[in-house]
Amino acid sequence: MKIENSRKDAFHAPEKAYEALPVLEREEAPLSPQDRLGAMAGPLLSWYDSHARSLPWRDSPKPYRVWISEIMLQQTRVEAVKPYFNRFMEELPDVNALAQVEDQRLLKLWEGLGYYNRARNLKKAAQIMVNDYQGCLPDSYEELLKLPGIGSYTAGAIASIAWDIPVPAVDGNVLRVISRVLASWDDILNQGVKRRMEASLKAIMPKDRPGIFNQALFEIGAMVCVPNGRPKCGECPLSSLCLGRKQGLLDSIPVKTPKKPRKVEERTVLLLLEGDRVAIEKRPDQGLLASLYQFPNVEGKLGEADVRALLTSWGAGISQVEPAGEAKHIFSHVEWHMTGYRVVLSGLPKESYLFVQKQELTDKYPIPNAFLAYRNVINGES
Ligand code: ADE
Repeated sequence: MKIENSRKDAFHAPEKAYEALPVLEREEAPLSPQDRLGAMAGPLLSWYDSHARSLPWRDSPKPYRVWISEIMLQQTRVEAVKPYFNRFMEELPDVNALAQVEDQRLLKLWEGLGYYNRARNLKKAAQIMVNDYQGCLPDSYEELLKLPGIGSYTAGAIASIAWDIPVPAVDGNVLRVISRVLASWDDILNQGVKRRMEASLKAIMPKDRPGIFNQALFEIGAMVCVPNGRPKCGECPLSSLCLGRKQGLLDSIPVKTPKKPRKVEERTVLLLLEGDRVAIEKRPDQGLLASLYQFPNVEGKLGEADVRALLTSWGAGISQVEPAGEAKHIFSHVEWHMTGYRVVLSGLPKESYLFVQKQELTDKYPIPNAFLAYRNVINGES
């Protein structure tokens, strides 16, 4: 019983420590924003020491692993990244392997993560590292910044986590947490706001544990001061410092100016079957979903008769046309609203499509998530 008690006490100790934080602020003498940030570091680090999740890139923070994970984590949640990260490390365990991988294989490893330029930039940067940095990641913030796909956030994350260089890593999560702590009405999508936050954090970050400080901020953003839904202020080591909480502003802050509405494009997707093979084509090497593979598709929402007429004009023989459902895919600037048809061919069209085995859609060709619903229609048949 005694042992259990002492274990329990040890487990709860850090939270008690935050409750017992000295009162840093008197009503008549509020902290300046910079002092408020400075006061965060202590509670943040001790909270992280007892609450950090074990994550594959965190448990072994080698520069290459930190880099790949940080690129994957842009726009993608931790849980979704884990299997991608592990597969990537198994197949491309170092800079040299990444520099040499075939584009198609790289895109296949990235399939489903989206924002495929991230993968292409990884390979370009790896090639520069092989040529100019003896196959290693550069060990300075400024050199990291010169590489394709590495901006201030990623350079800061790699420099601090892998090399212990005291530079901040400010992403959307960090912007949210700090704006709330400071009750700041600044628009967090504004680059100037981000630059100022980087400068403010750089001034107060502990020089002996910069990587832990940055990761602790990511962790608070992911686990406590969450983007959707109510922040869990009861669990937050920063709650006694948080002006946004004190002033009841957590529903309004952070401020993000609304983006322009996305353009909606109607498309008709054709699942052209010829025996047990299906038609795909490679997208152009530039632009949206560059170099990935797709089912043939055309602009507009065609009806069944239109599809028959179109295929006939392509010289195809048709034995059957049936609806294959509607699907929607949202990109950052455009939305595709798709209408699908499953077509059994009796003669090949003039268009030079690639007819592949259904299994190759899974094993070989990188097909973006936009077409997932239609790939499932095909896979459901095999
Ligand atoms: N989000 C961005 N970077 C992260 C990291 N290193 N760990 C967890 N979540 C993150």
